[in-house]
Amino acid sequence: MRGIILSGGSGTRLAPLTKITSKQLLPVYHRPMIYYPLNTLIKAGIKEILIIIAPERAGDYLNLLGSGREFGCKFTYEIQDKPRGLADAYRIGENFIDQENVCMILGDNIFADDLSAEIKNFTSGGKVFAKKVPDPERFGVVKFDERMKAVKIVEKPKEWLSDYALTGLYIFDNRVVDVVKNTQPSARGEMEITDIQNWYLERGELEVAMVAGEWIDAGTFDSLLRAQNLAREKLADKLII
Ligand code: G1P
Repeated sequence: MRGIILSGGSGTRLAPLTKITSKQLLPVYHRPMIYYPLNTLIKAGIKEILIIIAPERAGDYLNLLGSGREFGCKFTYEIQDKPRGLADAYRIGENFIDQENVCMILGDNIFADDLSAEIKNFTSGGKVFAKKVPDPERFGVVKFDERMKAVKIVEKPKEWLSDYALTGLYIFDNRVVDVVKNTQPSARGEMEITDIQNWYLERGELEVAMVAGEWIDAGTFDSLLRAQNLAREKLADKLII
């Protein structure tokens, strides 16, 4: 399985912190933010990792992470020059993904759980991770039926649909590369990850696992502060890099 960390974007919600650096390089306690998703992938045994970054921050990422050898990995870098959406990562990463399955994690997503087993036991289809949250309108949201079977996925629903957010960790089999090629951008001009999830869901091939422990999308001032505290209290001694 190949890994992708999507670490592009301009982080405007965190301005002026992000005026001179990338959101995913900001400190979360004693590590740059991207170390947390990197830990999630490396713990799961993924060694070949594509890091997708914005062009103006490329030098910072190279200085910080380099070839990956220091971490026992091989890092590859690609540029996302415009915010074309999360699913655009599978187009950018086509050559890197090659014939493999792919586990993508967002550079600002911090998981307290060790998800190694969940990642390693993936075989085919799609697998995504849900978490009950107080503010589902901020996220991609999944609706379950009474038997807790996923029935619908909507990106940032305007009307309440469910309290379960879909976290920024996505495992898909190699078909995802072609699925993205046949997907149109949404009204906001982005390739939506929810369209990919729905493609697998409609075919009965999407597994939705629950995240038991804490999960934070550290993209706002308040969630960044929560991430700092979580890192200090619960994560610091669990990191391998
Ligand atoms: C993105 C995805 C959304 C997902 C979230 C998780 O939103 O579009 O489906 O729930 O990440 O962090 P963004 O944070 O880019 O607005």
